Amino acid sequence: MNDFSQRGEKGTTMRDKMTVPAIQARKRGTKLTMMTAYDAPTAHIADRAGVDIILVGDSVANNVLGFEDTLSVTLDNMIYHTAAVTRTKPSALVVGDMPWLSYHISVEETVRNAGRLMREAGAGAVKLEGGRKRLKMVEALISSEIPVMGHLGLTPQSVHAMGGYRVQGKRVEAARELLDDARALANAGVFAIVLEGIPDVLAEVVTKEIAIPTIGIGAGPHCDGQVLVFHDVLGFNDIKPPKFVRQYAHLADTATEALQHFFADIRAGKFPADEETYHIDEETARAFHALTQHEE
Ligand code: KIV
Repeated sequence: MNDFSQRGEKGTTMRDKMTVPAIQARKRGTKLTMMTAYDAPTAHIADRAGVDIILVGDSVANNVLGFEDTLSVTLDNMIYHTAAVTRTKPSALVVGDMPWLSYHISVEETVRNAGRLMREAGAGAVKLEGGRKRLKMVEALISSEIPVMGHLGLTPQSVHAMGGYRVQGKRVEAARELLDDARALANAGVFAIVLEGIPDVLAEVVTKEIAIPTIGIGAGPHCDGQVLVFHDVLGFNDIKPPKFVRQYAHLADTATEALQHFFADIRAGKFPADEETYHIDEETARAFHALTQHEE
């Protein structure tokens, strides 16, 4: 029943598989759409809706696994969730996020870890946070044929170094640093860069300056594409979303009301009804009842 790889369902159109070159070709073209998904049903919904890129983000930590921040998530967690997404065979490009400390220790470990996300989990590319600090790792990945998406600005894995989740690049010097990081990543060959939590003007300048697509989250309208977290857009978590999120549904409320209705039906003896019940023929039913009728 749960064949998530079925294509061309009601309300959807068959699409070509999204590739890294196809993403790069969208620079200054039709805006790119990217959305997080951490499991098969959410990946299937996003893909059916026509998303270009599914990001299996390390934000699985906060949105699904109940952690306070993304630092607790391991490479094995990311492989597990990325594999669940790729098993749905989406048309979207699947990008696996590299968790904290999986690309910081050495070039060798970085390539091995990214290779696991590709080989064991089926990712089409990996994403990692940081600019020039991570350049050696980025270059090693790209020379190992692993496509890399960069991530600059408010990088959640730096929450302690940043002193909290704060908008970045608000001053000229910080903006210059970020621009230099973006140039360095683009020159190294990353295929796109996520710009998170920065002023719109800085995102505009970076987007004009580099030849690869920028994908914004809390970075204003000038990027080549936009990304948000599935659970935020659909109101899946019962929390007030950040300023940069636009909610298109309130599924936590819808689901709570549906379950309240279901539980009320159980208590009232209205569930299950006849059509939700398996039956047998009358003769067999009589024989079943006779099982408990003891002879005198
Ligand atoms: O993990 C994540 O969800 C991300 C996006 C916010 C870009 O990195």
